[in-house]
Amino acid sequence: MAVRPVRIYGDPVLRQKSAPVTEFDDSLRALVADMFDTMAAYNGVGLAANQVGVAQRVFVVDVPQEEGPNERFAVINPVLEKREGHEKGEEGCLSMPGIVEDVVRAESLWLKGFDEYGKPFERKVSGYLARAIQHEADHVDGVLFTDRLSIVTRQLLRKKLDELIRGELPPGYHPAKGPKGPKGEGASS
Ligand code: NI
Repeated sequence: MAVRPVRIYGDPVLRQKSAPVTEFDDSLRALVADMFDTMAAYNGVGLAANQVGVAQRVFVVDVPQEEGPNERFAVINPVLEKREGHEKGEEGCLSMPGIVEDVVRAESLWLKGFDEYGKPFERKVSGYLARAIQHEADHVDGVLFTDRLSIVTRQLLRKKLDELIRGELPPGYHPAKGPKGPKGEGASS
């Protein structure tokens, strides 16, 4: 297991539509294990495979709950259905350090996919977990959360985004520690 470097905005792999996983083998499980390590090292609540340079339909989440342990699991070949409601909330992205904005997402949805052993599952998710799932499912399609913002907001972010493209990371950014701040609302994924 190992921490892999997170790709930063401007890296073309983040815009790639990732390919479905067809082999649920040891190399997939090694990727998932590395993604859990990487998400923890960067203090993230979610991470998609293309954020570590692998354009496969895989993501992991580690989302705090109001009570009990975190929701921490991998999703392979995700399908999101039956989106319901709308909710605005803060999001950040490990691939876009220094940018936090409100994004409107469905409040709940039905998540279908496979675990890293190829076992199919489906479940309803809501609230902050549903937000993280939608953010990660966008990643595997090459969509970034800033794509979901208004044109005006995106124009206001232009300078910061251009800095990321040039490899200029925000002050205090540590590659192995991610942006900053506690997990939870506004955390990055
Ligand atoms: Ni992200």
